Amino acid sequence: MCGIVGYIGDNNASEIILDGLEKLEYRGYDSAGIAVNYNQELIIRKKEGRLKVLDEDLKSNPIAGNIAIGHTRWATHGAPSDENSHPHFNLDKSIAVVHNGIIENYMDIKKELTQLGYNFFSETDTEVIPHLLDFYSKQSDDFFSAIQKTLKKVKGAYALGILNTKNPDTIFCARKDSPLVIGKGTNENFIASDVPALLKYTKEVYFLENEEIGVITKDSIEIFDLDKNVINRDLHTIEWSMDQATKAGYPHFMLKEIHEQPQGIRETLNRRLDENNQIMFDDINLDKSNIDSITNIYIIACGTAYNAGLQGKFALQKIAGIKADADIASEFRYSDPFIDENTLVILVSQSGETLDTLAALREAKSKGATTLAITNVIGSSIAREADNVIYTWAGPEIAVASTKAYTTQVVVFYMLALYLADIKENISKENYSHIVDELLAIPDKVQSIIETEEKIKKIAEKIKDNTNGFFLGRGLDYSIATEASLKMKEVAYMHTEAFASGELKHGTIALIEENVPVVAIATQDNLFEKSLSNIKEVKARGAYVIGVTQISNRTIEEVADEVIFIPETDDLIAGITAIVPLQLLAYYVSILRGLDVDKPRNLAKSVTVE
Ligand code: F6R
Repeated sequence: MCGIVGYIGDNNASEIILDGLEKLEYRGYDSAGIAVNYNQELIIRKKEGRLKVLDEDLKSNPIAGNIAIGHTRWATHGAPSDENSHPHFNLDKSIAVVHNGIIENYMDIKKELTQLGYNFFSETDTEVIPHLLDFYSKQSDDFFSAIQKTLKKVKGAYALGILNTKNPDTIFCARKDSPLVIGKGTNENFIASDVPALLKYTKEVYFLENEEIGVITKDSIEIFDLDKNVINRDLHTIEWSMDQATKAGYPHFMLKEIHEQPQGIRETLNRRLDENNQIMFDDINLDKSNIDSITNIYIIACGTAYNAGLQGKFALQKIAGIKADADIASEFRYSDPFIDENTLVILVSQSGETLDTLAALREAKSKGATTLAITNVIGSSIAREADNVIYTWAGPEIAVASTKAYTTQVVVFYMLALYLADIKENISKENYSHIVDELLAIPDKVQSIIETEEKIKKIAEKIKDNTNGFFLGRGLDYSIATEASLKMKEVAYMHTEAFASGELKHGTIALIEENVPVVAIATQDNLFEKSLSNIKEVKARGAYVIGVTQISNRTIEEVADEVIFIPETDDLIAGITAIVPLQLLAYYVSILRGLDVDKPRNLAKSVTVE
């Protein structure tokens, strides 16, 4: 939520800031703004609406200057408006601040500052920061100490970019619980909430840690803790390519990312398989004695990552034979979970920054659990705080709706399940190799599904005007239904429900009427006949049924109105392929409805508030 960018160098700063904000727009798109330090003066522009509104403003009235900070907002405190947009500033506009996060004690601070004569121009929590900086910088000439005092006063989460006319050649930045990277260039340096904003300019980055302050000029980067002790941080080289962060000819990021799944899955597998196709998790600190002592696994995540966790639960129980539960991160902490030192808690998060998931991680650690993160973002908060990390190699995911992160997360779960099963001696060599071979065949199968895109588009045309729909499945297919339904809701704004097929007749079937679309997922051989019966039940009540099944299950054609066939695969892993046509279905319904598929209303990609 909210993206921040900063630039200091020899080039036009506002152009670089706009370019960076465009890469971060997925983090929030209610408004955008920029502050440029030019000739000892801060020039601030901020506009409600998408980034293009600010872009047009800057095109018609450009700003010169080589030092700037920018922001793209997902509103939390105060509605989207010009006033509530960042940067926020102090009364004489000598200090400008962009912020991602929430200042929890801002009401108290605002009261104190108001009594001291500070006027506020916005309803945001952020605005206390420039005023506090102003207040403390009047006590001494050392702006760094004003930052220290301000950060010690505020409670909550922040990633900050700060400009100040008294230090015209410096960008200050700081973070706590909201991500911030510092990009190292040649005669120029950068800050950003996320790496894609920097890829065009540099791949060398420092990850700022919690309660650290960065002091950045065009040719120096210094990092300090809140007591001004120098921190020596390693420089990381990012492996993501520039192409991965652009649409590369696709009309939308979501479509591009659906198409990138074969590559992401292949990469995620290859990074963890040795030349004998044995799964290598040697870097995760779980040896045989740790693994034997694990009595239960909790999988904790939000949204799509949680849905991946549902498939993970299935894989861990079926393959590794360990009791596993999946829980929603925002509920987990309040459910008095049974956690002890024999519990493995797996946190799944594309961004590695989701605050509820991060809070659940901290809770699990405090109760003595071993923690393992599955995430796509190297150096993210969850990756850094978990005891162990397995990265997905999906590449940057920019579309708000998650697609390739989901399938690569599921692939990691299957590898993890095989790894644990092998160490626990719960799986035969033949079965292990068979599942690995099946996983290795998935990228080509996903590719072949993507090639049926035109057919899926035609199905989308048939259901695009419906306001309600259902996704049904049994067993593993039910977990696929949850993700397929979420995709349809978030990008196509169609109200859909995922339902366990067998449960439908216990109430919800009352909602089935003439022409309601029902997507019936039936990939599991042992449940196929039962699924067919459920299809007949809804068909008899007028539903328009779209079946999703493996290619050999031809009988489904007799009962469904449309069938999406997926290539034959072991039932155990059919969830990885079955979701792909349903991602495409949601995409095309959204496009046919004329919606902004990459940036659905009210959403932001990275949810760093609870
Ligand atoms: C939906 C979607 C969200 C995220 C959720 C968790 O398409 O992307 O439901 O899955 O907000 O985000 P991460 O995985 O970054 O923790």
